[in-house]
Amino acid sequence: MTSGAGTSDELKALLPIEAADRLQSLRLVEGRAILVLDASGLAPAARDGLEAAVKAALEPAPGVSEVRVAMMADKAAPAAAPAAAPVAAAPAPAGPRILAVGSGKGGVGKSTLAANLAIALARMGRKVGLVDADIYGPSQARLLGTEDKRAVAHEGRLVPLQSAWGVPVLSMAHLSKAGQAIAWRGPKISGALVQLLEAHWDGAELLVVDLPPGTGDIQLTMLQRFRPAGAVIVSTPQDLALMDAARALDMFAKGGVPVVGVVENMAGYACPHCGEVSDPFGSGGAEAAAKEMDVPFLGRIPLHITIRREGDAGTPTAAGDSPQAEAFTTLARQVAGWLDEAA
Ligand SMILES: Nc1ncnc2c1ncn2[C@@H]1O[C@H](COP(=O)(O)OP(=O)(O)O)[C@@H](O)[C@H]1O
Ligand SMILES: [Mg+2]
Repeated sequence: MTSGAGTSDELKALLPIEAADRLQSLRLVEGRAILVLDASGLAPAARDGLEAAVKAALEPAPGVSEVRVAMMADKAAPAAAPAAAPVAAAPAPAGPRILAVGSGKGGVGKSTLAANLAIALARMGRKVGLVDADIYGPSQARLLGTEDKRAVAHEGRLVPLQSAWGVPVLSMAHLSKAGQAIAWRGPKISGALVQLLEAHWDGAELLVVDLPPGTGDIQLTMLQRFRPAGAVIVSTPQDLALMDAARALDMFAKGGVPVVGVVENMAGYACPHCGEVSDPFGSGGAEAAAKEMDVPFLGRIPLHITIRREGDAGTPTAAGDSPQAEAFTTLARQVAGWLDEAA
């Protein structure tokens, strides 16, 4: 799908010098020029200026219909020195460690993955809770089959709801009436997130947090306030996976959160009838992205109808013993190993 090296080399030659110096990767995919730049040390205005200069230089080039630029902050910094995050140190949160599950955009299966990962970890004997931090599009109540439950507070803090899968859970959906539109803003959203995270998670050693999609301020504030021990980035195999994963990686870097690795979801469609595996969205994009960004690749979760059906039914795949469940178990083993080592 990527066009010949000659073409992207021609584009490289058009870049302003500062952009060329900071270039991490440039790919030309079906007329879309996709660049990842190292934005270390740049103020927001300088980043914007650099992005504008790159677009001005490449947009007129023949064969280019669109230019996308992802800026990555110094990726070595957070792993090497998490304490040097650009925020006044938040008090080290007592209580469970946090594992953030994030993605550059929605619809990649982040919630599905967070739920199944939490369950697979619980089946390994870990004491895991699940927090749905996706305020506007909560899905963990449905995924864990707790849609009909409502959370209550005890001594001013919420009490997590027990699911049937050994994983207590809290979601905005447990606080609002079913189907009620959630149209909160700014401080109120942060307040709601704090309530979910600072609930009575007493028995849990780990909270898997399904972050809101995207890489905005809410996410960053949350990361900085709650200091996750690590983050898993979910991506699909599509061409733009590199862009989205790069954005998510940049967000975790800014928040001083070490990245456990990238998971490729919906990788290869296994026909439920004959078992033949095909690649409707291509495959390998996330692995290539992980390699380019120098973060571990944690493996693939297949695109399989049972994963969606079981998610919709509130009986997540990882709770069963299908071959699809095995993919989540394999992932959980890696994540658990990483967490143990980091501790
Ligand atoms: N590996 C998979 N195979 C099949 N369907 C999947 C898979 N992962 C996610 N889905 C489905 O894709 C849709 C989006 O997934 P979701 O977890 O809600 O994504 P996100 O949280 O990133 O928006 C859901 O309908 C979900 O059931
Ligand atoms: Mg979601």
